[in-house]
Amino acid sequence: MLSPLFLLLLAPIFAHPTDTNNACGPGPEHHRPPHKPHPRPPHEDCSYSAPGSRYFYLSNVTYYSSITYSTPAHLAVAWAQLTFNLTNNAAGYNAVCKGQVSGSNEGDFFSWPQVFQCEEDAGADGDAMFTYVAYPDHKVSVNETWVCGKHHYLGYASASLNLNCKIDEWVNPNFTWPNNGGLDYSHRTTTCDPVDVPMIPAIVKTD
Ligand SMILES: *[C@@H]1O[C@H](CO)[C@@H](O)[C@H](O)[C@H]1NC(C)=O
Ligand SMILES: *[C@@H]1O[C@H](CO)[C@@H](O)[C@H](O)[C@H]1NC(C)=O
Ligand SMILES: *[C@@H]1O[C@H](CO)[C@@H](O)[C@H](O)[C@H]1NC(C)=O
Ligand SMILES: *[C@@H]1O[C@H](CO)[C@@H](O)[C@H](O)[C@H]1NC(C)=O
Repeated sequence: MLSPLFLLLLAPIFAHPTDTNNACGPGPEHHRPPHKPHPRPPHEDCSYSAPGSRYFYLSNVTYYSSITYSTPAHLAVAWAQLTFNLTNNAAGYNAVCKGQVSGSNEGDFFSWPQVFQCEEDAGADGDAMFTYVAYPDHKVSVNETWVCGKHHYLGYASASLNLNCKIDEWVNPNFTWPNNGGLDYSHRTTTCDPVDVPMIPAIVKTD
């Protein structure tokens, strides 16, 4: 359980971590993530039980979608993406994560937990991947593997994104059948303000 203080501090600013099951070490109140990413070399203490020794920090989490109709009856292109940078202080390197999907309307996008691979910095010794499911609660789940000492570790966490989005819609005022002007019938974009999301991952030693 998160302490009430922890929730109080994070709730107004950040999404709330929903996965707080720690595989080892004391409760998450001893691992309160810092408010800025500080990538650093792999932690020497592979138990990750020291205060602040484990966190995922998702920075610049950005959602964007675009839907274009060439005529009122013909969808030309519809896609959406969620991108962010992942810092894992236990791994000591960063990853860039990008998930892109297509669909036919806003409700189609990220409607099931498709797995997207993140691109790790050069020299990384593990993999990171994520899922994002838009409904009902904008849940992003991230996992990453790394090496500490002679062992492999897996960290995983999830959180609900608190997104503040703006929809821009443009409809061609001069559209006539057939599409004689050559201009599209409509464009609709959804752009959400970037957010930063600290997470406290559960960590398991996998070998
Ligand atoms: C944040 O992400 C967006 C979308 O991927 C990108 O256009 C922008 O450059 C990023 N900002 C920073 C500071 O990395
Ligand atoms: C995300 O990572 C890329 C590549 O490492 C970097 O250029 C960019 O500045 C980072 N953006 C943020 C917001 O951390
Ligand atoms: C990481 O998460 C993805 C998506 O939930 C899952 O398919 C994958 O098996 C996980 N990786 C590990 C090592 O648990
Ligand atoms: C619509 O038609 C009006 C009058 O011809 C023109 O001024 C305007 O630029 C047109 N709008 C678009 C989006 O083509």
